[in-house]
Amino acid sequence: MELSFARDIRPLIRESDVECMVDYGLDLSSLSEVRMYAEQIYRALAEKRMPEDIPWNDENIAKFKRWMDEGMDA
Ligand code: HEM
Repeated sequence: MELSFARDIRPLIRESDVECMVDYGLDLSSLSEVRMYAEQIYRALAEKRMPEDIPWNDENIAKFKRWMDEGMDA
C-alpha cells in the first residue's frame, strides 16, 4: 500500500511544528504546501536541521522520502 499524507506523514508533524513554521511562511498542516516544498522539507529533515529540538529518526525520514517517491498521495 502506498503511503498517504493523512495516515502516515501528517501524524509525524506536531502541532508545535505547525505553529512554529507558520511564522516562517510554511504551513506543514497543508498537503498542498508540503507537496510544493517537499524537497526542501526533506533536506531539512534528512540533515537534521528541522525540527530544531528533536530531529526525526531515520525510519521516519525514510518514510517521508518514500512518500515523495511514491507521488505524494493525500
Ligand atoms: C517537522 C518539523 C519541521 C519542518 C519539516 C521544518 C522545515 C523547515 C524548512 C523547510 C525551513 C526553510 C529553511 C530550510 O530549508 O532550512 C525551515 C526554517 C525554519 N524553521 Fe523549521 N521545520 C520544522 C520545525 C520547526 C520548529 C519546531 C521550529 C521552532 C522551534 C522551527 C523553526 C524554524 C526557523 C526559525 C526557520 C528559519 C531559519 C532557519 O532556516 O533556520 N522549525 N523549517
